[in-house]
Formats: sequence, C-alpha cells, structure tokens
Amino acid sequence: MQIIAVAARKGGVGKTTLVTHLSVASWQAGLRTKVIDLDPQTTASEWADARGDDAPDVISAQSNRLSKILEAIREDTDIVYLDTPPAAGDAGAAAIEAANLVLIPCRIQAADLAAVLRSYDSARGQDRRAVVVFNDESPQRRKSIVDETNTVLAMKGIETAPVVIHSRIAYGESQDQGRTVLETDPNSVAADEMRQLYTWVTKQLNQKGAKAEKSASKK
Ligand SMILES: Nc1ncnc2c1ncn2[C@@H]1O[C@H](COP(=O)(O)OP(=O)(O)OP(=O)(O)O)[C@@H](O)[C@H]1O
Ligand SMILES: [Mg+2]
Repeated sequence: MQIIAVAARKGGVGKTTLVTHLSVASWQAGLRTKVIDLDPQTTASEWADARGDDAPDVISAQSNRLSKILEAIREDTDIVYLDTPPAAGDAGAAAIEAANLVLIPCRIQAADLAAVLRSYDSARGQDRRAVVVFNDESPQRRKSIVDETNTVLAMKGIETAPVVIHSRIAYGESQDQGRTVLETDPNSVAADEMRQLYTWVTKQLNQKGAKAEKSASKK
C-alpha cells in the first residue's frame, strides 16, 4: 500500500483539491483507493458525503488513530491519500511519518513560499521525500516566473513537481458537487493537468502499471 500525505501549514493552498482529484485519478486507474481525512474541518469528508456511494472511501479520523487505521486497510488498499489540516501539529506530523511521499501544494506567492519552507523542513526532518506542487497558478503568468521560482527552491534543496496546476474555477465547482473535474469535464485542460500530475506522482511511487494490473486482476 502506497501512502501519499498532502500537507502544508498554510490554509487554502489546495491540499484537499489535490487529495480529491488525485484520489479519483487513482480510482479511475483501477487502484483500490482510500482517503483519510485528518482535518477537523472535514472538507474531504463532506465531499465524500456529497458523492454518495461512489469510491474512493473517505475515512474521517484523528491523527492518534492513523496507524491503526492504516493497518486495518492495508490488505485491501493499493493507495491512500492523507488530507491534513493547515497547521503545524500532530496530524501533519503523523501523516508525514506514515507517508511514502509528501506533496506540498503552494501558490507562487511570498507568504505561501515561506510556509512551504516550514512544511518542507518538517518532512525533511522526518526523513521523508517531499515535493512542492505549484497550485492555483495564473494561466496568464509568464512561465519564466515558474522557472525562476523553481530555481530559487532548487537552490534551497527543495524539489518541485514538473506539473503545475493552474487556477481554474472548475476545480472548486466540481468539488462542491462531490465530484472532480476528471468526472465533470474529463476532456478539459483542468482534467488533463490533474491526470498529468497523477501520472508523475505514480511514477515516483514506482507502482503505476504493476498495481493497476494487480487490482484489475482481482476484480
Ligand atoms: N487550482 C485551483 N484553481 C481554482 N481554485 C482552487 C484551486 N485550488 C484550490 N482552489 C480553491 O481554493 C479553495 C481552497 O482549496 P482547498 O480546500 O483545496 O485548500 P486546502 O489547502 O485544503 O485548505 P485548508 O487549509 O482550509 O484545508 C477552495 O475553494 C478550492 O476550490
Ligand atoms: Mg483542506
């Protein structure tokens, strides 16, 4: 079972948006997918309520239950996404500790980048691979700004994902309906960039083809 934590100490940077979209991408790829919602705001759980019975399962939990829950789902789960609250604290630390890979969403803004450094340091302190994912990026902004930010972060030893998620109203609109753009508008550029991010993430986990085949053969 692969475990992806999505963590950032700053609020509203796209943690839950990445969790909902990447988890649906996993599920659509045939992986047995779960989400554990460690955020007391329960945004991912409310998204699941709006979804009804459709996968992925979202489990709302407190961080002190995380390891027990992961043990309980290990046998019948290929991939699990951990959504975390926007604060330094037990939930973020427990999620990072459990994870194979930590994704840190961030907007290209000074305040967000400062917060990223703190989240990144937590992951590195816990000896986990962490990758910054630029989110909510203006499609109008010059690409050179992204490149320059990448360079600045790379100089600090911070890894960034090569796929940038742009600012698109469709992400929030689909989420409000308990869906993702992968379902409401699968041929859109929004869906395409989330699929690209998913493909990149699964390559990092080195599990893409094998796990999808494994779960398909169990059906
Ligand atoms: N790429 C994007 N384009 C447009 N809107 C976005 C994008 N990413 C996130 N949003 C919107 O920004 C708001 C915050 O996003 P989200 O809930 O994913 O952030 P979060 O980091 O989980 O927040 P919190 O820290 O409160 O849990 C939501 O309304 C969401 O729809
Ligand atoms: Mg959230």
